[in-house]
Amino acid sequence: MELRHLRYFVAVAEEKNFTRAAKRLFIAQPPLSRQIQQLEEELGVELIEKGSRPLRLTEAGTFFHAHAQELLAKAAELKTMTQRVGKIDRSLSMGFVASTLYGLLPDIVRHFREQYPTVEVTFHEMTTMQQLKALKEGTIDVGFGRVKSEDPNIRRIVLREERLIVALPSGHPLALSENSLSLVDLLMETLIIYPKAPRPSFADQVLGVFSERSILPHKIMEVRELQIAIGLVAAGEGVAVVPDSVQGMKRNNVAYRALTDRHAVSPVMFSVRKMDTSEELRNMLNTIYAVYDRAGISYIRESL
Ligand code: BEZ
Repeated sequence: MELRHLRYFVAVAEEKNFTRAAKRLFIAQPPLSRQIQQLEEELGVELIEKGSRPLRLTEAGTFFHAHAQELLAKAAELKTMTQRVGKIDRSLSMGFVASTLYGLLPDIVRHFREQYPTVEVTFHEMTTMQQLKALKEGTIDVGFGRVKSEDPNIRRIVLREERLIVALPSGHPLALSENSLSLVDLLMETLIIYPKAPRPSFADQVLGVFSERSILPHKIMEVRELQIAIGLVAAGEGVAVVPDSVQGMKRNNVAYRALTDRHAVSPVMFSVRKMDTSEELRNMLNTIYAVYDRAGISYIRESL
């Protein structure tokens, strides 16, 4: 059985008609019928109900159709991913969640550019879930995200666990002292979380650190992105739990306080296509570790 048989069968199943399927495949009808017949012979089962008009699939045919579609989608994905791997020797396209831009990302990119000046680096702001899709579609080569989502086509390296902090309106009673706060201190506040979609997202991570302690602030406000959350904090609408690096986003009317809760952390993740061990990616990972070494950040080194 070859991919061609799957493509032919899917076309017939979707068109419910051999003539239309043959047209769609740009082949004549007799060879198409022969190929489907060969497929049924090889499998030893009928896939199409004999004499049905419009054509109906048997139970085995319906099963085969679903799996054939999945295999064809995987083959198409493999094609775009391989093409991308073959092309990235002189360019590196990066997806990143907004919070990394206020932390170490600019430093890391400067360092990388100094060492590899001929590599063209491009940036795309996107959520972790969007990064997984973009990696599979070949629009980015590496994603810097925060959500630990599993995908069989993606290799994920946790670079470090970053402390979470609280952003408060300046002048808020909880911001009057420089002392660290506890999640419990926030229970009477409106908690502003982001991004609203796609889920799971950093919003669920923040809700997770509260629910680990079996608590939840009395009011939750969901917003689209980090900048809006911080803007609303500045406007006095509520408080937001954000990664420590967000302190790099200096803003009038916003005060940042540390959290005492040890489990209030968010991972920074490096995601790439599984088995993509290209030189640019290896160089990027080593650059990140060099920046961590210089900044005295602890991490567990992994290699591609
Ligand atoms: C970090 O903050 O650890 C980080 C940010 C962007 C890329 C890699 C690491």
